[in-house]
Amino acid sequence: MDHFLYRDGALHAEDVPVAEIAASVGTPFYLYSTATLVRHFRLFDEALDWGPHLVCYAMKAASNQAILKTLAAEGAGMDVVSGGEYRRARAAGVPGERIVFSGVGKTRDEVRLALEGGIRQFNVESEPEMQVISEIAGAMGVTVPITIRVNPDVDARTHAKISTGKSENKFGIPISRAKEVYAEAAALPGLKVIGIDVHIGSQLTELEPFELAYRKVAELTEMLRAEGHEISRLDLGGGLGIPYTPSNVAPPLPTDFGAMIQRTVGHLGCEVEIEPGRLIVGNAGILVSRVIYVKQGEDRQFLILDGAMNDLIRPAMYDAYHDIVPVVQAEPGAEKVPYDVVGPVCESGDTFAKGRMLPPLKADDLIAFRSAGAYGAVMSSEYNSRPLIPEVLVHGDQFAVIRPRPSFDEMINRDTIPEWL
Ligand code: LLP
Repeated sequence: MDHFLYRDGALHAEDVPVAEIAASVGTPFYLYSTATLVRHFRLFDEALDWGPHLVCYAMKAASNQAILKTLAAEGAGMDVVSGGEYRRARAAGVPGERIVFSGVGKTRDEVRLALEGGIRQFNVESEPEMQVISEIAGAMGVTVPITIRVNPDVDARTHAKISTGKSENKFGIPISRAKEVYAEAAALPGLKVIGIDVHIGSQLTELEPFELAYRKVAELTEMLRAEGHEISRLDLGGGLGIPYTPSNVAPPLPTDFGAMIQRTVGHLGCEVEIEPGRLIVGNAGILVSRVIYVKQGEDRQFLILDGAMNDLIRPAMYDAYHDIVPVVQAEPGAEKVPYDVVGPVCESGDTFAKGRMLPPLKADDLIAFRSAGAYGAVMSSEYNSRPLIPEVLVHGDQFAVIRPRPSFDEMINRDTIPEWL
């Protein structure tokens, strides 16, 4: 459920008409709903109420400071994967003890940054990384909690580019080598091994792959405890999918996910962390765009928008489906026509949808891409020298620009000219 609904035929974000925001901010822009964000966070939090837990929002999905602050005020932890994300989390007021640091290639600078600023735990992904963290922590005279990310070799049954738990993927250590890697970690100074981390992929639409992975983690917990390791925390990653298409079977809900976690690892008495990103922010955001032209092709009509692949890369990159809706609701029973929905960027990959059935649209009409809150703004670029588009947050009947559109001069003047030119 989200808070982008029609009222009297006009698409609203909570209590604000989307067209009103478009008139004030200009198109295209990302638009987020506070109520949806908060609702989704609370669903996860409540789903884990059966035991000690922390929901660490995977801020790679959408990392605007206003979004982070909204979630931090709810008590969210943060899952970060770079020094930039760590700094963003801290800037939003998240204390170090609520930040977990994931990622396969943490640099020495990033490790130092987190050790100096405070960190709940590093999710370690390899032996060389473990040695580097140990060395730096040792030199600083501190001991840092770590979990080790295991690769359970489970097929997440999702898009290949966002599948992370198969042995051919670069993530984690092979679960078959866990015993020796944990022994090595326990012997290293500066590290306190406290748990296990696992994350098998994103946009999972079934619970079974999670369940398989978590059962392996439960077995591993018992094995490692028998070896004398204190395993008191399980970071079970993110990955629960959202319904992108109106027709497909809805993925399991956070409540089902939480119950499955209890079933698989609840008996171990560990503190549980999860790292959801997409489910918290995906349906809490839309991308609003305007039709520039309707162009008649040889055998099809093109809807040419002012939004493009640089603003929302997911269709080009993952063949992702995003529901497209008109901001002014079509008359009930209005006939639909097929459009190829495209942006103005100079490559054919700049196609959002082919043969999409929509009510008849004309130049200047507004449309919205639904489910665009996750991996939308954060993956955008200035390709074709199109400035990054604004982000706007709605809260009840108020809205605020939370990242303004840069001016063309700002964009151009970031470049510097060498003295020989
Ligand atoms: N934890 C780790 C270690 C991750 O790598 C990810 C996502 C998450 C948590 C959050 O997963 P979520 O709950 O959002 O599924 N750009 C792609 C998605 C990439 C996901 C990368 N890792 C897309 O647009 O579909």
